[in-house]
Amino acid sequence: MGQSMSIFFVIFLLINCVFSWKKDEFRNCNQTPFCKRARSRKPGACSLFATDISVREGDLVAKLIQSEKGVENSENQEHPITSKPLVLTLSIYQDAVLRLKIDEDRSLGPRKKRFEVPDVILPEFLEKRLWLQRVKEEESHDGSGTLSIFYLSDGYEGVIRHDPFEVFVRESGKNGKKVLSLNSNGLFDFEQLKDKKEENEDWEERFRSHTDTRPYGPQSISFDVSFYEADFVYGIPEHATSLALKPTRGPGVEDSEPYRLFNLDVFEYLHDSPFGLYGTIPLMISHGNSRGSSGFFWLTAAEMQIDVLGPGWNDEFSSVLRLPSDQKRIDTFWMTEAGVVDAFFFVGPGPKDVVRQYTGVTGTPALPQLFAIAYHQCRWNYRDEEDVYNVDSKFDEHDIPYDVLWLDIEHTDGKRYFTWDRALFPNPDEMQTKLAAKGRHMVTIVDPHIKRDDSYYIHKEASQKGYYVKDATGKDFDGWCWSGSSSYLDMLNPEIRSWWSGKFSFDNYIGSTPSLHIWNDMNEPSVFNGPEVSMPRDALHYGDVEHRELHNAYGYYFHMATSDGLVKRMEGKERPFVLSRAFFPGSQRYGAVWTGDNTAEWEHLRVSVPMILTLSLTGISFSGADVGGFFGNPDTELLVRWYQLGAYYPFFRGHAHHDTKRREPWLFGERNMELMREAIHVRYMLLPYFYTLFREANTSGIPVARPLWMEYPSDVNTFSNDEAFMVGDALLVQGIYTERAKHVPVYLPGDQSWFDMKTGAAYKGGATHKLEALEDSIPAFQRAGTIIPRKDRFRRSTTQMENDPYTLVIALNSSKAAVGELYVDNGKSFEFQQGAYIHRRFKFWNGKLTSSNLAPLGSGHNKFASECIVERIILLGLSPQPKTALIEPANQKVDIEWGPLLLRGGKSSSVLTIRKPNVRIADDWTIKIS
Ligand SMILES: *[C@@H]1O[C@H](CO)[C@@H](O)[C@H](O)[C@H]1NC(C)=O
Ligand SMILES: *[C@@H]1O[C@H](CO)[C@@H](O)[C@H](O)[C@H]1NC(C)=O
Repeated sequence: MGQSMSIFFVIFLLINCVFSWKKDEFRNCNQTPFCKRARSRKPGACSLFATDISVREGDLVAKLIQSEKGVENSENQEHPITSKPLVLTLSIYQDAVLRLKIDEDRSLGPRKKRFEVPDVILPEFLEKRLWLQRVKEEESHDGSGTLSIFYLSDGYEGVIRHDPFEVFVRESGKNGKKVLSLNSNGLFDFEQLKDKKEENEDWEERFRSHTDTRPYGPQSISFDVSFYEADFVYGIPEHATSLALKPTRGPGVEDSEPYRLFNLDVFEYLHDSPFGLYGTIPLMISHGNSRGSSGFFWLTAAEMQIDVLGPGWNDEFSSVLRLPSDQKRIDTFWMTEAGVVDAFFFVGPGPKDVVRQYTGVTGTPALPQLFAIAYHQCRWNYRDEEDVYNVDSKFDEHDIPYDVLWLDIEHTDGKRYFTWDRALFPNPDEMQTKLAAKGRHMVTIVDPHIKRDDSYYIHKEASQKGYYVKDATGKDFDGWCWSGSSSYLDMLNPEIRSWWSGKFSFDNYIGSTPSLHIWNDMNEPSVFNGPEVSMPRDALHYGDVEHRELHNAYGYYFHMATSDGLVKRMEGKERPFVLSRAFFPGSQRYGAVWTGDNTAEWEHLRVSVPMILTLSLTGISFSGADVGGFFGNPDTELLVRWYQLGAYYPFFRGHAHHDTKRREPWLFGERNMELMREAIHVRYMLLPYFYTLFREANTSGIPVARPLWMEYPSDVNTFSNDEAFMVGDALLVQGIYTERAKHVPVYLPGDQSWFDMKTGAAYKGGATHKLEALEDSIPAFQRAGTIIPRKDRFRRSTTQMENDPYTLVIALNSSKAAVGELYVDNGKSFEFQQGAYIHRRFKFWNGKLTSSNLAPLGSGHNKFASECIVERIILLGLSPQPKTALIEPANQKVDIEWGPLLLRGGKSSSVLTIRKPNVRIADDWTIKIS
């Protein structure tokens, strides 16, 4: 006993050491002055009141002034309270969006304008502003004083309580229930910029060996936000943690860090941690059974820390706070180092409404090229051309489709991006052309650190033109990264972005061809010798913006400029593909993101799902995790399970660290290769469905991968389920996250049946099924009432599937009905925006399957033609057994076959197959079954 205890203790110490040294590289809240200060504030501490309320040019404008009580109390406070008034502006937009801005009063002359992030909010959104006309005053029912109330939309109104100030949205009408509020707990605080007068700790702070100067003093902002009728809150990527966010403060929560939003290159990140990773989206979404969803988005690019406050966290202050007791709510606390308040309230009420409202502000996702949603093969590094040809031909030899082969940093000449190591890659254009002949693409990496080498043309031009980010003393910032001593382009400046995007032209990027696309890594930015592996906060950008104000958006601008570069080089004829590690609101418009450097462990496989779903909820539909895990060697079973799950990620790429063993699918024996091939086949088969979903995301913002509660918002069993997810509204996928699993429990929501994708067997909805865990697939089900379009013939790549016929899989519900859609275009160009696409609606009803047009008629339509036909229709859930199938109106008979689809695990299922109806996908038609 004693011995085992001490062994346990030694192991415990070892584990602690391994993890803690990495943790020490990064600040926690206590080591972050603004976070520490904000977190120590007490509810009710804010004594600002709203005054001079008026309507100006369609906005509500007010001043926030410190009450006398607040000024008296301020002597006890840690930092002097601001006595200069703040300016508050409320604007309303279509689709019930309320926008709140709070900034310093510039007429009182702070010498510097606080940073507001440009280029994120869509110009189209600004055009949706409504003219706020009338504000009525009212005494509140609960004795909390005077309210100013204005119309927000049919059903909702915006309210500002005067003293202490509070902003909220509530349902309209008498005793309208609150939906979202700000400063109900009185935690609002706004540190105004100062001129340096005396020496004290305001002007710098230290972390490890780094000193961060603060030329304007502390400038943080913090406040509380409450979500009413919420059971859970979600969002605010990027963290490797559960989908439903756990409380970080309150009774029973011990010593938790807030959720940190600070883009960082974290070496070997841990699963289940509120620690901030590579990207940031300050959008939180709530969901609850009684009302539905709401959302809150704060547009700032400075470091942010967010507490989710557990029930009872403010009990001891309940007498000072006047919070409605008849409504349940989740309180949260938002803290940021700099910027302004530019916040958006989204009323929902459905989860899809919140996503639509949010992507109405920041944009819907770009539509990727078709190849980009197929399988990608990556490794750090495919060594040389021979290696590339070899891997490429092995995929063919083993009949495994893939679309893209990737080259990591070692393909360059000394990490000088846009160059090639000519010893290893003597003929890069020829290499790309050979792969392109099989319809395949390549991707090379281009990172933001530029090697400080005078013989490198990018560096030479950038330093001559003064295009680098400056350090606090005004010299080019010089940091250490893959390329050694490096500088970083100041991507905030539109002129520099435009210069950068020109570097992707075929004349400039020697050895690149149209089939080459790009990958942006390290764009947090990662600086190996910088504070927290990033850039000092006092570095300076275009327009004297401090890095602390811009940090979380740096990678976004880099991604944007790269994506624009790929559009420009093709003169707008092709959609770009750019993968980025760092992200920010709006990144969805520029390409895909992945969840960074994960590890080959089962827990990382598991956490990939909540990470992807969180990105989906916050507008970034096109995301995935490295299949197999980046660090470490996955055992074969884990690798196979990862392929089986990864095949349903919106972005599907295998990737591995340099020090890991090779792991291409054929290296694990015949059987395991078959399993991985089968997983990849599933993805290729479902590409028509995926592409249709990508287009849906492009038009509506609704993501490809969805939490179950997005489709089943009133089923409480789904609210914290993050092991299963929906692909569109028709497919439910459940991962297998343990070794040698014998059984896997799957919760199937709703009152309709679900059909096993492989066997066609039907399972009841609204129940948890304990399924046998099979080696050859993870559980995936088609919902009754849906139609999924597929292409079942296997080719080398998507390009070669272009003219292949379709299979339609119809899963009938209890009313013997089903609907589905298919979207097709040329998979490449922007012509779909002028109507060059086919969009069909399939409907099975009353024994008839009809295909009808969903695309608007008129100019542009019919510009895209397809001769593709439907070669097979599979019907699940049909009874009694029909005898004939006729294509109307000619009454042409087609073959039908009744029988088991597949036998598996002793189960068989009866399905009807209509063979070779050979109707064209582009046409209207009806097939009658009787
Ligand atoms: C859809 O995707 C295209 C191409 O990426 C993009 O230009 C467009 O803005 C996106 N949104 C809509 C609504 O078309
Ligand atoms: C069956 O599906 C059809 C098409 O989606 C739908 O209109 C109908 O309401 C569904 N029936 C039931 C009982 O859910």
